[in-house]
Amino acid sequence: MIIVRSVAAVAMFATVAGAYAADPLADAEMTKLASVSGCLTCHSIESGKPGPNGMAPIGPAWQDVGKQYAGKPGAGEFLTRIVLEGSSPYSSHWKGKVSGLSMPPNAVAITEGNARRLVDWILALGK
Ligand code: HEC
Repeated sequence: MIIVRSVAAVAMFATVAGAYAADPLADAEMTKLASVSGCLTCHSIESGKPGPNGMAPIGPAWQDVGKQYAGKPGAGEFLTRIVLEGSSPYSSHWKGKVSGLSMPPNAVAITEGNARRLVDWILALGK
């Protein structure tokens, strides 16, 4: 009986995996992953939020990132590499729109798998 129940639980989980809350902005699990990975010290999730002390935000709001890369082939792979390895201040993608010049590498703080999960969520925010 216990075995049957856990099989059912696994099957339920499998159907839910990959889907976000009805409103992706309110996805508690992804918000928590972003928070424990240190991303939210520089990024807001929703567009139009001020940065620390009311200054321009350090990094782009993830909703804006999602819109910017919406429908671009390979965006998931491309952004995952940037998250892990950092961005170059010499070829800034958000120049003039944010106060940070570049993003430091995050590979010390997050695994590749979790970085990809966050990027997939960020892309879903732009839909
Ligand atoms: C120290 C501040 C800082 C932290 C921490 C940080 N970022 Fe960033 N992030 C930035 C800045 C600044 C940019 C804009 C870079 C540019 O203009 O090319 C950026 C850009 C991005 C982009 C868009 C990249 C592009 O080329 O368009 C994504 C996606 C992103 N960050 C995700 C993350 C994730 C996921 C984490 C946590 C694992 C994270 N960031 C942590 C500062 C940060």
